[in-house]
Amino acid sequence: MPGDTGADIIDGKAFAGALRARVADGVSRLRADHGLTPGLAVVLVGEDPASQVYVRNKGRQTREAGMASFEHRLAADTPETEVLALVRRLNADPAVNGILVQLPLPDQIRAPAVIDTIDPAKDADGFHVTNAGLLAIGQPAMVPCTPLGCLMLLKDRLGSLSGARALVLGRSNIVGKPMAQLLLAESATVTIAHSRTRDLADECRRADILVAAVGRARMVEGSWVKPGATVIDVGINRVDGADGKSRLVGDVDFDAAARVAGAITPVPGGVGPMTIACLLLNTLVATCRQHGLDPKEYAPV
Ligand code: GUN
Repeated sequence: MPGDTGADIIDGKAFAGALRARVADGVSRLRADHGLTPGLAVVLVGEDPASQVYVRNKGRQTREAGMASFEHRLAADTPETEVLALVRRLNADPAVNGILVQLPLPDQIRAPAVIDTIDPAKDADGFHVTNAGLLAIGQPAMVPCTPLGCLMLLKDRLGSLSGARALVLGRSNIVGKPMAQLLLAESATVTIAHSRTRDLADECRRADILVAAVGRARMVEGSWVKPGATVIDVGINRVDGADGKSRLVGDVDFDAAARVAGAITPVPGGVGPMTIACLLLNTLVATCRQHGLDPKEYAPV
């Protein structure tokens, strides 16, 4: 989609809609061929308002894709042992092919302990250390949804990423690090930058591909962007607008960057919609693998 500012605007919302339709097609063929219905269990502990919105959207889109959705809502003061027991029950439940425990968790529950308890084969988020390790050594893994969505948008835009200079801004376990692994697997030349990186603007300016995932509103300035670069903005930051209303902005100064970049994702409507679409894709892939079927037959991978 051409923008009025120079860069092409990458329409993540449209791409995600098309991806969900392909997943739904795979789900219906899997049911017709093998009588299997993929099931995704989502666990929400507490009443974090943003998490409630995410979980509602996940449930709706899971059902729309023809999958079974199992929602488990637990009180904010639920002890960790109870959450771990629920995860173990879901691990053992053959109707559940994917498990997602919504983060953040209340303070009394250790997220690493919960993630470690999820069966890696059902780890729809790809957060388990086994999946992080498999991704790092290039073996079939469950891949975290947000970086997977970013990779799909990049490959759709650029085709081959081989030899491209890619800069990942942010080193989180759920976005930055797996994003770097995925880009490396595509033979990009990958740099991971973060809050302690010296000459951050210069590092960014060298990048043909810039993935911003730091969680700081409009931190990446237009002058940091290499002319013609592809910019993927993972940030979702709420800021006060001039009119007093709050609005969502990314980690990139969109208006300034769009005058320089070749292509850029907007916020909202860029990476965000891809995350749930990739969660559905992961659940379909996990279902195939659990039944010894080739995911390529049913999933757009
Ligand atoms: N909270 C915000 N995004 C996510 C996500 O992708 N997975 C999980 N488990 N929790 C989240």
